[in-house]
Amino acid sequence: MSDRALLDKTDALLLQGLAAAKAIKRRGTEGPSFAATFKTLGWEPFERQQKAIDAFLQGVFWLVYGGAAGSGKSDLLRNLGVAYCRQYAGVKATLMRRTYKELEGNHLFQVMSLPRSFGEFRKSEGRFSFTNGACLQLGYADDESGLMRWQGQENQLLLIDESTQFPFHWIQFLSTWVRTAQKGVPTAIIMATNPGGIGHAETKRYFVRAAPPEAIFEAIIEKTKLPAVFIPSRVTDNLPLMESDPGYLERLNALPEAKRRALRDGDWDVFEGQFFCEWRSDKHVILPFTVPQHWRKWGGLDWGFAKPLSFGIYTQDSDTSRIFRVRELYQTELRDGEAVERIRAIMGTDQLDVIWADPSMWIRRPEDTGAISTAGKYIAAGLPLQPANNDRVPGWGHVRDFLADGKDGIPMFQVTSNCIHFIETFPSLVYDRHRDEDIDSDGNDHCADECRYALISRRIGETPVTKQAPPYLGIKPSSEVKRWRIAR
Ligand SMILES: Nc1ncnc2c1ncn2[C@@H]1O[C@H](COP(=O)(O)OP(=O)(O)OP(=O)(O)O)[C@@H](O)[C@H]1O
Ligand SMILES: [Mg+2]
Repeated sequence: MSDRALLDKTDALLLQGLAAAKAIKRRGTEGPSFAATFKTLGWEPFERQQKAIDAFLQGVFWLVYGGAAGSGKSDLLRNLGVAYCRQYAGVKATLMRRTYKELEGNHLFQVMSLPRSFGEFRKSEGRFSFTNGACLQLGYADDESGLMRWQGQENQLLLIDESTQFPFHWIQFLSTWVRTAQKGVPTAIIMATNPGGIGHAETKRYFVRAAPPEAIFEAIIEKTKLPAVFIPSRVTDNLPLMESDPGYLERLNALPEAKRRALRDGDWDVFEGQFFCEWRSDKHVILPFTVPQHWRKWGGLDWGFAKPLSFGIYTQDSDTSRIFRVRELYQTELRDGEAVERIRAIMGTDQLDVIWADPSMWIRRPEDTGAISTAGKYIAAGLPLQPANNDRVPGWGHVRDFLADGKDGIPMFQVTSNCIHFIETFPSLVYDRHRDEDIDSDGNDHCADECRYALISRRIGETPVTKQAPPYLGIKPSSEVKRWRIAR
């Protein structure tokens, strides 16, 4: 590098450093109020949006706004972000959508068009820099590597539009860097969303169902306990839209039932993109019962360590052929020996004919010492593992067939209410964005995979044969498995 270039670079770094130091010095000094900024923007929050703004100013960390379509979610996030940046000098707020296209369609133009008196849009950085040193960064993360770009980037306010399009653990990851060292500057994660999407289940569990709407409560997420609120909103709350486009509500009314319930009513029990849309908890979930001794029982197993291991016990009514999932184990970080013990404990005195398992358990991993695969260890411990058929798309079709009603109007597959992880994760799975007939495997699909392994071994209406191996539809057992069988 020439001396001149080196000097230029040093100057540039020096200037950047000075600007940052200035911004830090200014941080926390209060600028125009939210109301003043909204006035300048010519935007007035309607009642429901105002409730969300008030909750934010009261200091909640997690704020979920929305439910229904057209309920002012995107406007609220963007304008709140702008007002925040204007009020607190030197802060950084980031407004995200899952993809660049969505960001462009919803926010880019509006942020670029903010008044010149506020500051300027820096296209190369994708951010609006305010005159007080604050900035509103626009961002997206359409896959894991996109997410990693945000690692370590500190924010004081994270605004996530259509947040259930993000796996929830991505949001938890991003939350690590939502912090401030400055007293008086509120920090928060504000999520605006319709029901549905890959983060639906966690959003519903942690926020929507955790407390009455609009009540501030402590959200317990893993080891954190932080103030949170869920503010439901509907298109009918958006009076400006109702007045300017009354036909919009008509169009929502005309949608097919599931879509209408999700988008018009913000109903969190059904949603667009739901993979098993035939699931109805009032039909598929039943109270636990004592399984008759003579019913056949078998297991399904999806192995995991960092991700949960899912094991389920299945049984079949010998008169109606209806299948029930009656007990489960769902846990992360179980070493193989511990997993075997836990599975045995769940089985109790029940004899299982077979446990249809994730075929990848037969692949020997580098850490599998003593030339024995994970499956080998389970089999050596006496569990009757067999590699399941892992054809995903036909397998899902098969699961769907069982979810349908039998001749008596009752579904051919039901789950007892003690299987809490299955009941939570299975209905929340969504379609893969790239493979139409498949589940998005970024979601919590472990119970579903295990169920697919367990059900693909059965045919609808097949009369169960007690105490006999089920018809074998899986892949051929490897020679290693055969060796283990003989050894037993
Ligand atoms: N307070 C407001 N005053 C005037 N217009 C508003 C206000 N809030 C939202 N709008 C307008 O209502 C329309 C719908 O709002 P917005 O896009 O924010 O809703 P949304 O819930 O994000 O919709 P979608 O479900 O389609 O994402 C937009 O044209 C928006 O500019
Ligand atoms: Mg929107």
